[in-house]
Amino acid sequence: MAHTAFAELLDLDAEVLRDYHDEVIAWVGSLAPARPKIIDLGAGTGVGSRALLRALPGAEVVAVDMDDEMLAHIQASDSRIRTVRADLDQPWPDLGPADLIWASASMHHLADPVRGLRQALAALRPGGHLVVAELESFPSFLPEGPEAELEGRLSAELDKMRAEHGLHMHADWPALLAEAGFTVEADRRFDIDLRPPLPAAAGRYAEISLGRGLQRLEDRLSADDLKALEAIVAGVKTRDDLVVRTTRTVIVGRKPS
Ligand SMILES: C[S@@+](CC[C@H](N)C(=O)[O-])C[C@H]1O[C@@H](n2cnc3c(N)ncnc32)[C@H](O)[C@@H]1O
Repeated sequence: MAHTAFAELLDLDAEVLRDYHDEVIAWVGSLAPARPKIIDLGAGTGVGSRALLRALPGAEVVAVDMDDEMLAHIQASDSRIRTVRADLDQPWPDLGPADLIWASASMHHLADPVRGLRQALAALRPGGHLVVAELESFPSFLPEGPEAELEGRLSAELDKMRAEHGLHMHADWPALLAEAGFTVEADRRFDIDLRPPLPAAAGRYAEISLGRGLQRLEDRLSADDLKALEAIVAGVKTRDDLVVRTTRTVIVGRKPS
């Protein structure tokens, strides 16, 4: 099926940052009982749903998203995953009771994250876990020097734009989970710094990621920066000197018994 650049980006993230994803999924899997019921909130292309099914083959997985294209992608990728179309900013449909809720890079999209977290609490069985995985910083790819400085200006401007659009990128997730009624059991930070040689998909990951940034900031960067970035995007896919730097945080909350 058609794969938009954004959907491809989500799949590439899992491929290029495989070690991080594998470590987190193994950890999260260890929190669940045998044959758990799992809800994947804002599932995107279903990267998390499929990884959790690989780790916990007897699991029942429900993937929730409001984007029909994402849901179709999940259905085509694994028929064991049940998909539910829902806007998580609205009252949720009955999804529970779940043993485990996985919310990767989705809670920051909600207009009122605490309201969403309270609904997650209601969808869990007592003792069940919510895992929130968030991006503290988006990946950067260019090696140190003037190019990395340019990429830094791009990232700073994108960060500003996300804040203007009301995204909760750097929220205090442990505090918000506690406010919603969770007992916070873990708050881990993963500083990822991959150096060459990188997985083959890294070039395409950089191309889409930087290309999307460029598109969004066309009217917010200087003409010189735009021109330099265009040249970088045009050639980035085949470079062998790229790096991948990003920081992720993973917070685990437990519903009190
Ligand atoms: C950055 S993607 C993350 C996808 C996936 N969890 C992953 O880690 O690859 C965020 C996803 O949340 C979904 N989303 C954003 N706001 C939503 C809302 N209010 N209700 C339901 N889904 C939402 C988007 O459609 C998108 O698929």
